[in-house]
Amino acid sequence: MGKAIQDLRNEHTSIHHVLNLMDRMLMDYTSQPSVKLRYYNELTTFYKVFADACHHGKEERYLFRYLHSLNDEKIDGILEELKGEHTQARLWVAQMDDALTVEDLNEFARCAREYRNLLTLHIEREDRFFALIDGMMTDEVQRVIFSEFELHEEDVIGYGVHEELHKMIDQWGEIFSRK
Ligand SMILES: [Fe+2]
Ligand SMILES: [Fe+2]
Repeated sequence: MGKAIQDLRNEHTSIHHVLNLMDRMLMDYTSQPSVKLRYYNELTTFYKVFADACHHGKEERYLFRYLHSLNDEKIDGILEELKGEHTQARLWVAQMDDALTVEDLNEFARCAREYRNLLTLHIEREDRFFALIDGMMTDEVQRVIFSEFELHEEDVIGYGVHEELHKMIDQWGEIFSRK
């Protein structure tokens, strides 16, 4: 598997891991609402910064743009559907955010589950699609796109925030894998 596609696949694994942890958070019936609010706010930040700005950003701005330049109608059709799913995911995260603003934990859980369902299917779909297009991309193309990914990541996240997100995920893992 080429560098650029492998990078996106690795990020899918991280997002999937967080979606699983979120399921456990949503089934936590013992923590105080204030504690839940803190975790839910952290989750929403992760989805906005990592899943959307960083990951979907890499896909839309670099990989999808390159694939579109191939002028293949079938690929273009798939790209439109995938971008539509990114838009829908953004809408769910915005609703999760709204629910947190008014501290409505039930509404947050409802939107969070919709988001989880959508993103799980989206990642499965992309993994199948990426396996297909991986063979159509030369090593050179993969290297160029991967360098663009690195710059993009530095731009939207930066080293410090990246480390913070990792720490946050590790902390959730420690707390919620035991629950
Ligand atoms: Fe995507
Ligand atoms: Fe993706």
